[in-house]
Amino acid sequence: MASDPNIRVHKARLQDAQDIYDLVNSLSGDGTLLRRSYAEICENVRDFTVAIRATPEGEQEFLGCGALHLYGPHLAEVRSIVIKPEFRGLGAGDEILEALIAEADEHKVLSVCLFTRIPDYFTHNGFRVAERDALPDKIYKDCQTCPRLYACDEVAMVRGPLPKVAVLGPRDVQRPELVQINPLQLTGTR
Ligand SMILES: CC(C)(COP(=O)(O)OP(=O)(O)OC[C@H]1O[C@@H](n2cnc3c(N)ncnc32)[C@H](O)[C@@H]1OP(=O)(O)O)[C@@H](O)C(=O)NCCC(=O)NCCS
Repeated sequence: MASDPNIRVHKARLQDAQDIYDLVNSLSGDGTLLRRSYAEICENVRDFTVAIRATPEGEQEFLGCGALHLYGPHLAEVRSIVIKPEFRGLGAGDEILEALIAEADEHKVLSVCLFTRIPDYFTHNGFRVAERDALPDKIYKDCQTCPRLYACDEVAMVRGPLPKVAVLGPRDVQRPELVQINPLQLTGTR
């Protein structure tokens, strides 16, 4: 679909945080998007890309946003992608998604994942359905604390190869269990 030529996408700035917060949380009540606090949006505002359009009066109207979260060189995740209802169907969603995929490319991250209720939308952008167990970083980041953990209706999807490693683990594991280093090796004594 040809986009509205007046749509522009750019990396979010802190002054976009309020619009992002309002829009993302307008769809968190029914579980379409994860709820994000204002503090969390501000802290992670550099993950976000926004779509804007110039009005005939010369104002910039905010159309929507999406975020790319980097887990590491092995995996990134598209999060919080949403266009205001009155601006859907203009191509803004695709422009944001393309920008987020290009951003992952810039970081040389080949595996990009997401969880969604609308897999068809993402299929036409190169994503395919995956087993959620193949994405432990996503599970440990969000799912374990999600109220819908045992009633999740989202589909896991990946673009590119499945990640071969993970960096996150269960949060309730005690720190000593995570530390693998032999203390004797640290001092060099036996
Ligand atoms: C999904 C969403 C971001 C798409 O944004 P958009 O700006 O309306 O999408 P576009 O105008 O760029 O549409 C591009 C194409 O995707 C298709 N599409 C849009 N929404 C779709 C959906 N829900 N399911 C399947 N295809 C969809 C369009 O028909 C269009 O197809 P075409 O290129 O063949 O004409 C937007 O509908 C939205 O905000 N939805 C609610 C939030 C949501 O569910 N986000 C996903 C969370 S993982």
